[in-house]
Amino acid sequence: MLRRLHPEQPESFAFTPANQAWAEGQITKYPEGRQASAIIPLLWRAQEQEGWLTRPAIEAVADMLDMAYIRALEVASFYFMFQLQPVGSVAHIQICGTTSCMICGAEDLIAVCQEKIAAKPHVVSADGKFSWEEVECLGSCTNAPMAQIGKDYYEDLTAEKFGQLIDELAAGKVPTPGPQNGRYGAEPLSGLTSLTDYDSGRTQYNASVQLAADIGDTVKRIDGTEVPLLTPWLNDAKAPATKKPKAKPAPQKAAAPEVEAEAEAGDKPATLDAARDGKADDLKMIKGVGPKLEGALNGIGIFHYDQIAAWTEAEVAWADQNLVGFKGRVSRDDWVAQAKLLATGEETEFAKRAKEDGTYEEDT
Ligand code: FES
Repeated sequence: MLRRLHPEQPESFAFTPANQAWAEGQITKYPEGRQASAIIPLLWRAQEQEGWLTRPAIEAVADMLDMAYIRALEVASFYFMFQLQPVGSVAHIQICGTTSCMICGAEDLIAVCQEKIAAKPHVVSADGKFSWEEVECLGSCTNAPMAQIGKDYYEDLTAEKFGQLIDELAAGKVPTPGPQNGRYGAEPLSGLTSLTDYDSGRTQYNASVQLAADIGDTVKRIDGTEVPLLTPWLNDAKAPATKKPKAKPAPQKAAAPEVEAEAEAGDKPATLDAARDGKADDLKMIKGVGPKLEGALNGIGIFHYDQIAAWTEAEVAWADQNLVGFKGRVSRDDWVAQAKLLATGEETEFAKRAKEDGTYEEDT
């Protein structure tokens, strides 16, 4: 398939201040002289900001990374995840057309797209809300046929159900992702024949869908406000103003919005320069903290259970926003109550299990 720049292009591109700060932080991940390695995340962020990847955006990213425009265009045109033409304002729908999905009804889903969106792929619907394309296997073959809409998968689809989903999205709703035929995950359609007692303690939806439902951002594009600007490799919770674009610098800097975001999100907790006696607590014993979050916590000077145990509501709000990236996670898992127990030498159920199994929770 030929992938070319769209014939109609905007005049210019500039990252928003929040995205500019994030992009500058990403560039610092790579050693001097290797900044071009940041091209995919930067192009992706540009696409999230605009909806699609414009020529000015590709060139602006190339300038930031000191690359020839053609090198950046090679990357943008190689990877199908980059949309080189405008997409629907609500969603760009990707229908899997590979073997399992094809034999289970992908063509019926494509017919729905042709009827409700546009006769051809990569064409925006008359109302501007949707576009569609057929893609290769998305790895959800046991739940065929399926479609990726925004960040999430909608599985076990029928033409009728899929049409309803599009109608709901058009009406401003975000239908719950995951299997649409009542299945929990990828268990047999006829029901479980083993591990039948796993019902106890499971969440309402399977883990992927539960997280999608909790975050609720299936079709929301990343805009720089929801992802914490963490640069723990610099021992700093905020993205620093480091690399400056070599040419065409973006017009605004990020300082003001970051301060505002922090102010809105509560109070930053007190921190330490280093773990007391050089020995940090194992923060992964707190449910909801995996290795990545533990690193981020240590990076900003949180090393001990008693520090978290003393967090006020405003400090929990700050942590929710600046460490976890979306509201409610720190409070939902009640890190403070867990830390209070752990600080006194007691063990939570989760900590007991983690020690027995030797496994920790993954970062979410
Ligand atoms: S064949 Fe469709 S997800 Fe794999």
